[in-house]
Amino acid sequence: MKIRDQAAIVTGGASGMGAQTARALAGAGAMVAILDRDPGAASRLAAEIGGFAVVCDVASEDSVSQALATARERHGPARICVNCAGIAPGKRIVGRNGPMPSADFQRAVMVNLVGTFHVLAHAAHDMTALEPDPETAERGVVINTASIAAFEGQIGQSAYAASKGGIVGLTLPAARELASSAIRVVTIAPGLMATPMMDALPVEVREGMGAQVPFPNRLGQPDEFASLVLHVVGNPLLNGTVIRLDGALRMPPR
Ligand SMILES: NC(=O)c1ccc[n+]([C@@H]2O[C@H](COP(=O)([O-])OP(=O)(O)OC[C@H]3O[C@@H](n4cnc5c(N)ncnc54)[C@H](O)[C@@H]3O)[C@@H](O)[C@H]2O)c1
Repeated sequence: MKIRDQAAIVTGGASGMGAQTARALAGAGAMVAILDRDPGAASRLAAEIGGFAVVCDVASEDSVSQALATARERHGPARICVNCAGIAPGKRIVGRNGPMPSADFQRAVMVNLVGTFHVLAHAAHDMTALEPDPETAERGVVINTASIAAFEGQIGQSAYAASKGGIVGLTLPAARELASSAIRVVTIAPGLMATPMMDALPVEVREGMGAQVPFPNRLGQPDEFASLVLHVVGNPLLNGTVIRLDGALRMPPR
């Protein structure tokens, strides 16, 4: 599907891979709505790229529904929806102070998995009202962000890995169901990427992580994620699949 003049939504679009995706989509001519819980960063990026910032907490279905309605009023229903909003809490199942509080596990699943589902369901519903694209017969594409932790979660990543594994499991049945509406669903599973999510770690830890990547022997860059998003949008045969973007990294247990 061509990108120029299409309405696009990027959740988590105020930072990291989402921000770079919003820039890339706007650069390719899309009308971009940045949905993020951080209003300041979302507004700054919207001003930079000529996009539109909408405050949204993806864990709340009401918030997603309202944010999509606001974006729709501005740009029309989106044909391109990229789910990047996510959190990466780390905690052991059995820690020094006892079992992991259920609320911690549930928070990761609510934001990463249920949040992705909220946006997928509401954006796909909006897409069903669109006419098929004259060139590709598509109504739209939804691109989710999992993680290689879905496949090789490390010690301390149980909640995060479970939430991302849920996104992997969601991808094929969503693509199969939405195929009848000509809507594609693809998930990208990044490896270790240099984003503000990583900036929380000390430099030596980040360098050590980059050194684990077989080739290229470094952390991934947000624009490498964004360029894959543009390719997925443009390639109608990509559907119902999970694409690893990881430089052949397979995470060890710790
Ligand atoms: N950085 C990595 O190494 C890495 C690796 C694999 C997967 N991922 C995934 O990629 C995605 C983007 O990560 P990033 O590294 O760019 O992170 P980031 O922290 O730079 O950006 C995440 C964005 O999501 C927003 N967000 C968080 N919770 C939200 C909520 N409830 N509602 C709306 N917005 C919310 C934040 O405000 C932020 O703008 C995440 O889903 C993350 O789990 C990251």
